[in-house]
Amino acid sequence: MSVGFVTLDDLDPAQKTVLIRADFNVPVSGGVIQDDTRIRACLPTLERLLAAPAAIILVSHLGRPKEGQYDDEFSLAPVAGHVSALLNREVRLVPDWEQGVSLRPGEVVMLENIRFMPGETKNNDGLARNLAGLCDIYVNDAFATAHRAQASTHGVTRFAPAACAGPLLVAEIETLTKALERPGRPMTAIVGGAKVSTKLVILENLVRKVDCLLVGGGIANTFLKAAGRPIGNSLHEEGLVGAAADILAYARNHDKEIPLPQDVVCAKALAQDAEAQVKTLAEIEPDDRILDIGPRTIEENDRTIGSSATILWNGPVGVFEIEQFSAGTAALARAVADSPALSIAGGGDTISAIARFGVADGISCISTGGGAFLELLEGKTLPAIAALQEAARN
Ligand code: 3PG
Repeated sequence: MSVGFVTLDDLDPAQKTVLIRADFNVPVSGGVIQDDTRIRACLPTLERLLAAPAAIILVSHLGRPKEGQYDDEFSLAPVAGHVSALLNREVRLVPDWEQGVSLRPGEVVMLENIRFMPGETKNNDGLARNLAGLCDIYVNDAFATAHRAQASTHGVTRFAPAACAGPLLVAEIETLTKALERPGRPMTAIVGGAKVSTKLVILENLVRKVDCLLVGGGIANTFLKAAGRPIGNSLHEEGLVGAAADILAYARNHDKEIPLPQDVVCAKALAQDAEAQVKTLAEIEPDDRILDIGPRTIEENDRTIGSSATILWNGPVGVFEIEQFSAGTAALARAVADSPALSIAGGGDTISAIARFGVADGISCISTGGGAFLELLEGKTLPAIAALQEAARN
């Protein structure tokens, strides 16, 4: 048992049918997978079960299709093809599985997008029972979906003959829990992205836990405004300037640092061909938009990151998808990767930045979670985790 779960180490999957809830919700465009980080993260689990040998039924969602309706756009066909290529064995996609699925140990099938099924997102007991009825062992290896109480992540744990946490889920929970409970100091959290509103609770929670909170992107603009600094025509949230000021005041009164950008990269518009200019805050004009951090701020961030023992990273510090506004996020990614600190990164944009700047190898733990990663940082109990812990008690 590990953090209150039954794990695969506690069970013998040999010759059993194992239903694995994975998170293969990956970006797909024109039938081509754009980033397979989530799929690769689950491969060791699949290989371990194939070696047992177990018969594997894979379950995942893809996107947010309309319930009860098949839609080509959200079919898991490309994902089944990709898993098949990575495992070098056939992975059959099964659209109609309610009457049962027949397979032998060493074989792998994938159920079609579970969100096509009525009742998945509403955590319907009937669907959960049907899923549970397919297997001898249910394995939840989908940390990225652990913040959803749905039939395949939550209800199924009550009906499966045995339910356990998969190795990927356990590794992510253990690393994140350890980092948050007993962090090496100093601890720095980097929270970037467009809006304070989507991350306000995390910011309020993290400022209490960390020694230094580095804010970036549109979030930093709202903090700059709260600190009385000029931001021109930059993206910010006027309604949350007060909340940002409260966080700054908390940090001041509790010996925490929230270093704000000293210089920035501005343009008059957010466009591929926009002309970028490095400016100090004092030089910002009313029609300037801040789209990245400047070189002095990059140096300052490098120093902060270089002297940290624990680093949590979620969100870019600039519009890194556009070349002339990407230097801040590129430098940040390199600094996190070069640091000997325990570094934990998560979230869709962050994973894209890590892939784009090729720094994955230097980061101690890349969480597959977006929403789940953020909710765990907020200190919330994730429903799928609670369900696994409940199953372990029974
Ligand atoms: C994610 O991408 O964060 C997970 O796969 C969950 O997807 P959802 O937000 O559509 O539930």
